[in-house]
Amino acid sequence: MLKGKHIILGITGSIAAYKAAVLCRLLVREGAEVRVVMTPLAKQFITPLTMATLSKHPILVEFFNPENGEWNSHVSLGEWADCLLIAPATANTLAKMVHGIADNLLLTTYLSARSAVAVAPAMDLDMYAHPATQRNLDELRSRGVAVVEPAEGELASGLSGKGRMSEPEDIVRFVDALLSEKKKSLSGKRYVVTAGATIEAIDPVRFISNHSTGKMGYAIASALAARGASVTLVSGRTTLPVPAGVERLDVLSADEMYRATVEAFADADGAVMCAAVADYTPAEVADRKLKKSDDDMVIRLRRTRDIAAELGRTKGGRILVGFALETDNEAANAADKLRRKNFDFVVLNSLRDAGAGFRGDTNKITLIDHAGEEPLPLMSKSEAAERIVDKIENITTARA
Ligand code: C5P
Repeated sequence: MLKGKHIILGITGSIAAYKAAVLCRLLVREGAEVRVVMTPLAKQFITPLTMATLSKHPILVEFFNPENGEWNSHVSLGEWADCLLIAPATANTLAKMVHGIADNLLLTTYLSARSAVAVAPAMDLDMYAHPATQRNLDELRSRGVAVVEPAEGELASGLSGKGRMSEPEDIVRFVDALLSEKKKSLSGKRYVVTAGATIEAIDPVRFISNHSTGKMGYAIASALAARGASVTLVSGRTTLPVPAGVERLDVLSADEMYRATVEAFADADGAVMCAAVADYTPAEVADRKLKKSDDDMVIRLRRTRDIAAELGRTKGGRILVGFALETDNEAANAADKLRRKNFDFVVLNSLRDAGAGFRGDTNKITLIDHAGEEPLPLMSKSEAAERIVDKIENITTARA
């Protein structure tokens, strides 16, 4: 499966490094050429001799060979590789990757790599669940780094939970899928994704907005791009970086988002409407800062245009996916939106579910189409994005 593929296996200082021996042997057995780069601490967990024997090449740790001063070039390693696989990846290495810290050969190799990059995190459950680690993983995902989710189970600390490195067989399967063409299943397709909150000006200083962070829409844009699609992300206010391979159009108001999205949809194969668009906007925008007085103030609001409904009207055979964020009567409201806006399916999240909706890194969604409902368990927003894109891909294939 991996015949002739060049893989750099990066090993960091985690107890799960013992599994890297089996992982290396499996990669070689699948036909891959493997070069092992270890962090200095990794040598405490598994011997260079073991890894050199299994990979059939000397392992690399230092920038120079101390005996003859020979330079271990991370640049040529980065060019040679089809995949840099860091397994196990510690919280420390993940954090350094996020910040571009380059204090060992593995990190400089990461910075030089032009190849696919995958990480298999391994750490204690609390370290894994910590917002710092989760944020780092999300940042890496948004740059196109593939994350092999750790498994739940017994940990070296004696505790039990999520943080165990995936089993070597699963990691090999993951790398194989990453390097094979099936991951590029949407190449040649063009999608528009709306994300984030719109901002409706009251005067030059104040505005009306909402709590949307844009995380779900950004995760969907990133997942579509990872499968080879061209993606235009029409983004309201957010603090998120532009995902790798995605073209972002920044907009502020619902009216601006309407114009940008309708224009981008003209030559698209589909759209995912993830933005939290204001339903009302101030009827008049004051051109100077409104002065306060002792009286109450009334701001008259007018309806904005419904972007999704407009795309639904003109979509023809193209795919249109909508979101429904509900607080009550969830399924009935979502089903109503499906029909009214002519969506192919609706992603329902309920604010009544813990871990769903705004701000967080997780979501609990139900996919609703004309045939029925598919409730999914609580998962990270990037995993939820993969499931949404799987459904888009299935519809695309069925219509081809
Ligand atoms: O009607 P409601 O706002 O609940 O519908 C939500 C869906 O419609 C979401 O997919 C949202 O992005 C989209 N929408 C839109 N333009 C609007 C309002 C909602 O695209 N003006």
